Parts: sequence; C-alpha cells; structure tokens
Amino acid sequence: MDNLKEEIQKEENSDFSGNYIEKFQDKNAEEFFAGSLVSWEKQENSFLFHGEKASLQITVVSPDILKFRHGNEGYFDDDFSYAIDPSFSADQTDYKFEDLKTTFVIKTNVLKCYISKTNLATKITTLEGTSVLEDEKGYHWQDHKHYGGTINICTKVLHAGEKFYGLGDKTGRLNLIGTKRELWGTDCYGYGNETDPVYKNIPFYMGQHSQIGYGIFMDNTFRSFFDFGKERTTVCSFWAQGGEMRYYYIHGPKLIDVARKYALLTGRPQLPPKWALGYHQSKWSYYPESVVRKLGEEFRSRKIPCDVIHLDIDYMDGFRCFTWDNKKFPDPAKMIADLKEQGFKTVVIIDPGIKIDKNYDVYKQGIAGQHFCQRMDGDLLKASVWPGLCHFPDFTKAATREWWTTLFEGLMNDGVDGVWNDMNEPATFEDGTFPNDVRHDFDGHPGSHRKGHNVYGSLMAQATCAGQKKYMEGKRPFTISRSAYAGVQRHASVWTGDNMATWEHLKLANIQCQRLAASGVSFAGSDVGGFIGSPDGELYTRWIQMAVFHPFFRTHSSGDHGDKEPWKFDQQYVNIVRQFIEMRYEWLPYIYSVFYVHTHTGTPMIRSLHLEGHIDPETFFREEEFFLGHHVMICPVSEPGKSTRRMYLTAGQWYNYWTDQLIDGGLEITVDTPLHQIPIFVRQGAIIPKQPKMQYVDEFVFDELTLECYKPFELTHSTVYEDSGDGYDYLSTEGHVLKSFDSDFVLDTWIITQSAEGSYESTYQSYALRLHGLHQLPAQLLVDNEDHLAQAKYENGVVILYVKKDFKKIEIK
Ligand code: GLC
Repeated sequence: MDNLKEEIQKEENSDFSGNYIEKFQDKNAEEFFAGSLVSWEKQENSFLFHGEKASLQITVVSPDILKFRHGNEGYFDDDFSYAIDPSFSADQTDYKFEDLKTTFVIKTNVLKCYISKTNLATKITTLEGTSVLEDEKGYHWQDHKHYGGTINICTKVLHAGEKFYGLGDKTGRLNLIGTKRELWGTDCYGYGNETDPVYKNIPFYMGQHSQIGYGIFMDNTFRSFFDFGKERTTVCSFWAQGGEMRYYYIHGPKLIDVARKYALLTGRPQLPPKWALGYHQSKWSYYPESVVRKLGEEFRSRKIPCDVIHLDIDYMDGFRCFTWDNKKFPDPAKMIADLKEQGFKTVVIIDPGIKIDKNYDVYKQGIAGQHFCQRMDGDLLKASVWPGLCHFPDFTKAATREWWTTLFEGLMNDGVDGVWNDMNEPATFEDGTFPNDVRHDFDGHPGSHRKGHNVYGSLMAQATCAGQKKYMEGKRPFTISRSAYAGVQRHASVWTGDNMATWEHLKLANIQCQRLAASGVSFAGSDVGGFIGSPDGELYTRWIQMAVFHPFFRTHSSGDHGDKEPWKFDQQYVNIVRQFIEMRYEWLPYIYSVFYVHTHTGTPMIRSLHLEGHIDPETFFREEEFFLGHHVMICPVSEPGKSTRRMYLTAGQWYNYWTDQLIDGGLEITVDTPLHQIPIFVRQGAIIPKQPKMQYVDEFVFDELTLECYKPFELTHSTVYEDSGDGYDYLSTEGHVLKSFDSDFVLDTWIITQSAEGSYESTYQSYALRLHGLHQLPAQLLVDNEDHLAQAKYENGVVILYVKKDFKKIEIK
C-alpha cells in the first residue's frame, strides 16, 4: 500500500502519461457501467437507449456500418469529427427494429445488432446468427480521481483464432494478435520493430474470425490504446484517455470490403499529379543550387529515370519556413524552371515550427493573427526545433489553417510543385512534443493538447494541401505528411519516417505500407535504402525492387551516412536499379489505373494476402507477399545472398512474370531470385497496360500502348484509366477514359472485349497486344470479326498483335 501511495505521488506530478493509466486502470479506478434500460427513443436513423448511468446511441449509417456513441450520465459530446469525409454519403436501405423481451434488435440486410435491456451490452451477428462482435464487459468507464478524468473503454470478446490488422503505420508483425498498441504520434528517429507508439494515429483495426471480417474505427483523437488479447487472451479492448467513446462497426464479410468501406467513410484521395507516381530522389539536404543541378544532370546523363527532387530543410534561410537561403539558392525560380525543362519537379519540406524572430514576416503575421498555440495560462508555447525557439500554429483553428494556405504563395510562384510536411506529430527537441496544457481551438470544440495532439499533423497537411492548390492555377497539389490521423488520405500521401538501412527495416517498410493501405492510406512509401545508415549495394537494390511496387517511391537519406543516389553503388547494382526504376515507368499505366480505382472505390492499392485471400488460413500470418491492384502479386527479397525464396501464392492460376510459367496457386512455392529479379506473378486473364521506358512521366508521346494479356481460365476483368495526368479536366466525361477489358476462354476461344466510359482521347494510336500463354501462333485470330493473323507474330514465347485502339472484340482460336 505504501508503494502504491508513492507511485500515486510520483504520477500525480507527471503528465497523465500512458504509464499512469497502465498502473491504475484495473487496480484503483472506480468502474462504471451503463446499468439496465430506463427508456429508449428513436431519432431519424438512430436509436437512443438510456441506461441507469449511461446512454447508448446507435445509428444505422448504412446496411453494413453502425455507429455507436456512449454518453456517460446521459451526456454526449458534440458529434464533431475530423476523420469522417464530409462528402461521405451512405446508401440507406430499410432496416427493421424489434422490441423483444430482453433485447432490442436492429436488423439491416446484412447484419443484426442486439442490445440487451439488462445492461445495454451489444452483440452483432450475421443474418444467419454467427456472432461477429460481442461485448465482453462492454462499454464502461473509469474515473481517475488523481488525474481528475475519465477513461472510456470498450471490451469485446476475442474469438478463437481471431486475427487483427490495420492501425496505420504500426511496427511489428502484420497480424496484431497478442499485442497492445498505443496511438500518440511520436517522432521516433531510428525506430525499430518494438517501437510503439510511432508517427501516425489511425484508430482503425480489422478483425476476422469464423470467415467473417469486420472493422472498428474509434473516432477519438485522445491518446488511445488497443489491446488484441495481450492483457487477457480472450478479450480485445480499446480505450481513450478522454473524449467520448464513439466508434463505427464496419461489416465485411471480406476484409478487403472492410478496408474499402472504411476508406469511403473517412475519404479517398483525389488523383495526384501523375509525376508524383514517378521516382523521387531526396536527401537531407541537397544544396547549394549547383549540387541540385548536378543531381539532375547525373540522372539524365546516366539515364536513370527520375521525376522529383526533394529539398530538405537546408534550402531555407536559417530553417525559417517559407524562405530561401539566398546564398545557397540565389535564384530559386530560375533553378526550378530549369529543372522543369529537364523534366524534374521540385518538392520542398515545410515544418510546423515558426522561428521566434521579430524580423521574420511569417512570425510577425502569426503573432498579429493570433495563430500560434497558447499554453493554458495564455502564454504562447515555445519549444525548439531546427531553427531554435519556435512558436507553432494551431492547425485545429480554421482561421489559422486559412492563414497557413496564404504562406504558400511565394513558394508556388517560384514554381515549387509539391510540399513535404515533417515534424508534425508535433515534434519538439526538449520534451518530444507539446505540453498537455497547450490549448487548441479544435474548430470550436476547444480542448487541450491531449485532444489536439493526434490530429495536429493531419490538419497541418490539410492546410498545406489547400495552400498549394490555391496558387497552382488548376494543377493538382502533392503533399506528404509524416504524422496523421484517420482521414489524412484526403489531403496527403505519407512516408514511414526515419527508418534504418537494415534488412529488418526493408521488411518493416513493407509491412507498414501494407498496413497503411489497409487503414485508408494507400499513397505511402518508405525512405528507400533506409534514412539512417548506409545500405550496401545489395540491400539498396532489393529495396528499390520492392518500392517499385509501393505507391510512393522515394529514396531519402539522412545525408551524414553517405549518399544514396543510385549511382553511388557498384556498377552491377546500378544497372539493376536502373532497370527497376525503368520498370516503374513501364508499369505506370497500370499503377495509375490502380490509383484511379482506389480513388473511385476506396479499395486499397496494395493489399496484404489476407485482404485478397480472405478465408485462406495460409494468408493470415503472411506479411511479405503483397498485391498491387487485383492482378499482380509481388514478394520482395528481404535477406542478403538469396538466390531463391519461399513464398505463398494465393488460390487461382498465376503466371510467373519473368518466365511465363503457369502455376496453380493455393500453395507455397520456391521462386528463383537472382539479384536482377524479385518474384512477380500475374493473375490468369489479367491485362496489364505498359508504356515505353521514359526518363520522366510524359517525357514523350508514344504511339502504342502495350497490353500484356495473360491467357484466361475464367472471365477476368481489367481496367485502364487515362487522363491528362494533371489538372481537373478529368472530372468531366471528356477529360478521362476508363477502358474495361474482359478476357475469357469460351469453347476453345480466347475472347477479349473492350468497352470505354468517358471520351478522353488516348494520346497513342494503337495497342501492341502481347498474348502470354500461347505456344505458337493461333490458327485463327479475329479482330472485330476480321482476320488479323497476318498482323501477328510469335516471338520469344509470346504472340504479338498490333491492333487499333478502339477494337471491340478479339477472338483467338
Ligand atoms: C526528420 C525527417 C527526415 C528529414 C529530417 C530533416 O528527421 O523525418 O525525413 O530529412 O527531419 O528535415
């Protein structure tokens, strides 16, 4: 008991840290439950159940999404959210509500939700009655008197064999079972597999058991925790150190549909400029101007494709955001324009810390406009980051976000093409982040940093994106963010922060990107080669090979551990790295189409095997193999010196991309992995669009789009999306085209049909169809019912056929 008193004493002086809650959660705090039903009422699509001590509101958002809010003592917060997409509209359908003897039932056309009259506990089942999510203790809260606050908790039954995925950029195994995770955005330089929390805060996870997948999104910005059977193996729980318990249940039953529906709820990105999908080169930092120009020249003279050069903090004058160091960069507009001539775009870093300097215009504006964060007692927050002592904008205030947008005028007029937001956890050098008593406007729902911390980075990215847009004359903005809350994908891409040049980190980067994609954020990548440390040629090559298939593809480096330009490695590696970056450009029509599908439907761009494999137990713990789109499976090589590797192919028939060998999936295989290859498999029936190699996106207009067509065994659907690659014309019918290809094998005939939606005119004239899976010229080849055999040739195991781009039907017998 004395020990305990001491602990309490110690903790009272501390900052309501996670540890505090850890210690007191079970032992000391009083726990409260809703109690039995007192009354209930219906309000539009919501049902409000009042218990003796708390109320529960359940809203039928759509047939497969239910929203739960728990109000202690009957009191609910303002239902305000930064995460939910303002343009989200649910497809409402009928549902039924029944008042049974001991329960109520809400029944949609996919699920039933039971609410107990005894204790307001809930249970969600399928229509057939399989229990998917049911309360263990259910909702309860603890009053922490020493802290003077409430922790709101939900505990659910953890089903035998249940798997858990999601939660943003978490490290460690892909399947979260048996772990406990914390969300409190943290600058974690040199993090490792055990580090938690990390940079991003995405309170969304997916569970799967009994062949049914579902998702939970706890929309709460306070420091929060998720326990997947770590404390108690039969319980999954989540809680937040403040704010209302508000969460969404999202029904699959396929996990990929859970991920897709979550993305619809929290928003999808707009299409980025196409160049943002090219290769990016970064370092801390490229300067002065001559070095940047030389970098560009090296890429072009060595014929290694590259679209984007990133300028890290040293381009600024004493790290003052929105300024240039005029000694290092005497004429930035001219430099950027010259780079553009060579096909390079320029992205600059912008941090939140604004230097306290009476002669600095941004500082003066921030003070005059009351844009900087204040402590509880009214003083402005001061903390150090790169420029020394700084103030920090309160991005949770609309007027401050609006002010921030205006600051981009200069950079955008200089020709900057994209902005990279860093240190926005927010990070500070002294204590890691802001003190908890910092006040945030929270868009009219004021609170302390306890409430504002986890959403700060996302709101900075939102304002940054809006700032670019304002001055870009109709071009598409490109924003990168290190920290994030749920919904960040509407405004920014992300990267996984300060990783290291080790093989373990290559694996980790792959897991983090998959996890992020499942958590709404497809446009993600890692610092290729590792930010800290120097990769050897083999590690760098293997990392490049993997990152070609990650949506955001950038080499970045801390700079003080040697350089990571592709040519800094031995020639044998340079050649392979070049080939793979070239491949990224050849595959761009496919990658851009996958991006389009993501923006349209919410389906993640890259997908872990369990998302595609769904109920195949082999996929539950797999974490290296991943899909890009529905048709391509990739498996990086993540260990040195490996000329073969084991991997799992999901069910279906697959073509080895390198050999065209056809393999029946649903089994583990050994694949050759010489240094110049990683395992790539293409689904039977897929049609993969490819363009010629280029040094940068749209370097030249080409005449012919290649369609790699893999012989089908069943009807397979592929799409090719095209638009001008920038601007917003694509939003009109004339500004885009979505080509649909169906490939099927019917009565000895391989039939490919094409249809299109949208009237954007492709810039090329024809297709070169490369038909894989045929071993000689076919006997007959009809294009729109006309014999085309004479236009086909058989070469290196592939039948090549040139056809006009508007063909409707091809028959191959
Ligand atoms: C942080 C970023 C890193 C950047 C550095 C300097 O460590 O994560 O990417 O290079 O700051 O700005």
